[in-house]
Amino acid sequence: MPLIQWNDELSIGINSIDEQHKKLINMINALNDALLSGQANQALSEIFDELAVYTVEHFGYEEELFAQYGYSESQVHKNEHSALIEQVKNLQQKVKNGDFMISVEVMHFLKDWLIQHILKTDKAYAGFLKEKGVI
Ligand SMILES: [Fe+2]
Ligand SMILES: [Fe+2]
Repeated sequence: MPLIQWNDELSIGINSIDEQHKKLINMINALNDALLSGQANQALSEIFDELAVYTVEHFGYEEELFAQYGYSESQVHKNEHSALIEQVKNLQQKVKNGDFMISVEVMHFLKDWLIQHILKTDKAYAGFLKEKGVI
């Protein structure tokens, strides 16, 4: 069973963003599968790098929309994004140095962060951007 299962509750009602969230979920699930099947740390590190790159891309997409339409809660939202990117970069560096291994705890941290962020922080902008015609 995948670590995170997409369900309609996770939909924010904007298709382009739902698709990106699904992709993030798939990437987290792939990393979890690789971990559970005993892949070497090197392989995990590569999947983790891809996840980090795509996360930055997704956050950038949201933040561009905030700028384009003048979303008033943009700063608080961007702070959440920056905090996660900071944590992910720290983990990436430690994994590369070989003094840290991706673990079940890390996977649960990523899962909980993403779900909470979608349900609370992303859903908070959904109505605003939908009104602006973002699909
Ligand atoms: Fe976000
Ligand atoms: Fe998001």
